[in-house]
Amino acid sequence: MCSLLGLVTVALALYFAPLVTVNVNNSPIFSEPIPEVFTRKIVAIGDLHGDLANALKVLHMAGVTDEHGDWAGNIDYLVQTGDIVDRGDDTIKLYMLMEKLRNQAHRAGAEVLSHLGNHEWMNAVGDWRYVYPSEIKTFGSVAARQKMLTTGRIGRAWAQNYTSAGRLPLHPSLGPPNTDYLPVEPNAKKTPLSHAALSFVHGGLAPAYPQLTPYPSAINKLGESLLAKLYAQAPQPPPHPPNAYPDLPTGTTRAEDAFIGGDGPLWYRGWATDPEKEACSKVDAVLEKIGARRMIMGHTPNMDEIVSRCGGKIIIIDTGISHAYGGALSALAVEYTLTPVPSEKGSEREWQETEVVTAIYEKRREVLAKDERRVFGDFTES
Ligand SMILES: *[C@@H]1O[C@H](CO)[C@@H](O)[C@H](O)[C@H]1NC(C)=O
Repeated sequence: MCSLLGLVTVALALYFAPLVTVNVNNSPIFSEPIPEVFTRKIVAIGDLHGDLANALKVLHMAGVTDEHGDWAGNIDYLVQTGDIVDRGDDTIKLYMLMEKLRNQAHRAGAEVLSHLGNHEWMNAVGDWRYVYPSEIKTFGSVAARQKMLTTGRIGRAWAQNYTSAGRLPLHPSLGPPNTDYLPVEPNAKKTPLSHAALSFVHGGLAPAYPQLTPYPSAINKLGESLLAKLYAQAPQPPPHPPNAYPDLPTGTTRAEDAFIGGDGPLWYRGWATDPEKEACSKVDAVLEKIGARRMIMGHTPNMDEIVSRCGGKIIIIDTGISHAYGGALSALAVEYTLTPVPSEKGSEREWQETEVVTAIYEKRREVLAKDERRVFGDFTES
């Protein structure tokens, strides 16, 4: 009994030791109060393709959800990079799960950021080549499926709560998610945190894609306008197959057409398939334009692991999670910390900025990148 109590005391003392140290440092008697450490935790998940069971496993494994599949409250942002639909039967359940988590996250002060992949867009334009007949049965009929994917629950969720491109700030001074990166003035100097953000699209941002800026709104405006034109079609064109591939709605612009094309953000594979040297020689110019430090994408599966290239500036998180592929169950975690460094009174505030990017698998974790910087400035929340 006595030794158990001793053990507990030692354990408690060890547990609280770091806290006590911080309190001493923060003692405001003779120095200015030191601002608090800021942390932001993000988990990103790639293509899910109709497999609820594996999606739930991945969410739990990454600490996003608890054992009941409910929001666990451990993270600030869950990001999904699209392709929830096709190649499996769990379309309805997966989209409903995402809306449930979105609501639960909200209540916990967190957020779910959802993206439309090329398969969501294929379904929206009536290209149903990868839709299983058994999946159509879960909707009741082709007409019921068309309705739910347009004016019904899923279509409305896509329009309200999904974007095609995402920019997620690592620090609140950059504004809420999907705030455009706009340099203050041409040739303005980058500020220390101006690019402290992650970019998400399903496929990739081709260096020559004409709608890279302002990022991400130029892309998302095209997505919103095209989706509205597709939903407005009455009746909906019969899907392909067995019918012919439907035309895009009348009034579709060339930019909207290119947006869903092979070099658009939903389909582009260059960051996954270009030789390393070539990819790394092009990545900085794109990151510079879009105001981000990393581009995180799905779409091009590697069945074994998350692929990190150019020191983690390019990260491909599609590991074929769905049983349709039988790849690795995986999630990506990004942990950002901005820690005040005690500095001379009156001098500019100094901070230690740390980004740790970790691949999470069923039986192991791997740190893909750990970037540390010293930055100077006053970073107040905007
Ligand atoms: C979109 O998300 C909001 C906020 O969580 C939610 O209230 C709303 O029902 C969602 N929309 C749809 C169509 O699911």
